[in-house]
Amino acid sequence: MINLTINGEQHELDIPGDMPLLWAIRDVVGMKGTKFGCGIAQCGACTVHVDGEATRSCVTPVATVQGSDITTIEAMADDAVGKRVQQAWLDLGVAQCGYCQGGQIMNATALLKQTPAPQTQEIVEAMAGNLCRCGTYNRILAAIERASTQEANS
Ligand code: FES
Ligand code: FES
Repeated sequence: MINLTINGEQHELDIPGDMPLLWAIRDVVGMKGTKFGCGIAQCGACTVHVDGEATRSCVTPVATVQGSDITTIEAMADDAVGKRVQQAWLDLGVAQCGYCQGGQIMNATALLKQTPAPQTQEIVEAMAGNLCRCGTYNRILAAIERASTQEANS
């Protein structure tokens, strides 16, 4: 059995240890907010937080994250930074098709938790691995800067 803590809830799952975390989250636990894009750590659609670190769940075997705190997009509304990021996304109408956006928000939130007021170049570098086929990159950058400014003013 594999024991995972996802968004503060314990899950005891009868799955193999080499199953990618993304499969466990989506197909076994049934939380669909985390997306499958490439399956080979190249797009960022599957990004979750593992002990606060942005992590590509498509290439993370579940056995390696037992005992860790796993956080998904579903918990961002209850997270102070995640909530601010999501509000900035809404304010600026960032999403187009939306497919990549959960991963974008998870990566952006991890960045702002570690670096609350990043320089523009730091944001660009931190987000470079999260691809968006709709090309929403400029709005993503603006939204992260907006969320970061709100932190500075709060
Ligand atoms: S699905 Fe994991 S990085 Fe693309
Ligand atoms: S909004 Fe469509 S892939 Fe990013």
